[in-house]
Amino acid sequence: MKRVAILISGGGSNMVRLAEAMTGDYPARPVLVGANDPSAGGLAKAAAMGIESFAVDHRPFGRDRAAFEAELLRHLEAAEPDIIALAGFMRVLTPEFLRHYAGRMLNIHPSLLPKYPGLHTHARAIAAGDAEAGATVHEVTADLDAGPILGQARVPVLPGDTPDDLAARVLVQEHRLYPAVLRRFAQGDRRPVFL
Ligand code: GRF
Repeated sequence: MKRVAILISGGGSNMVRLAEAMTGDYPARPVLVGANDPSAGGLAKAAAMGIESFAVDHRPFGRDRAAFEAELLRHLEAAEPDIIALAGFMRVLTPEFLRHYAGRMLNIHPSLLPKYPGLHTHARAIAAGDAEAGATVHEVTADLDAGPILGQARVPVLPGDTPDDLAARVLVQEHRLYPAVLRRFAQGDRRPVFL
């Protein structure tokens, strides 16, 4: 049974779906939810689900990423996670931190990587006139939004879509994709999941 720590920055809808999936014969359980913002809505959701949670506000650390990450690591290591799942986590992590969890950290990104790494993915897909958009779960490496792909889900881009319309359509698929990918990953199976 793998122990999974989930890092969030906001509402944590992906965290909720991952936690909800991790029951019964699912080969992993959520052991901790962490946020870089004490006001992240997902923290209350985690507490309501009985999952231990913490927040390390990144702002007091200013540009000292290493100090922020040292505090983050202190909380994480206390829970002895096997896997770290980034779910709407909006801080770039240093190679030092990533080395600590090399090969056992996942992220979900709201585009069909390698297209549109970074921010504003939906607006960029619409502006490009893409017929399709979607989400990708990938292993986290030192290259931002560029690790080995572990799963993708596609949705149509419809005429008149606003970025919010597309984001909502993609989010529904993210909630299906991430639990499916984590299930395989927790069993050591890195074959990608395509929805
Ligand atoms: C989602 O679009 C996800 O792809 C991105 O953050 C957004 C919010 O996710 N990583 P959540 O509702 O906080 O899980």
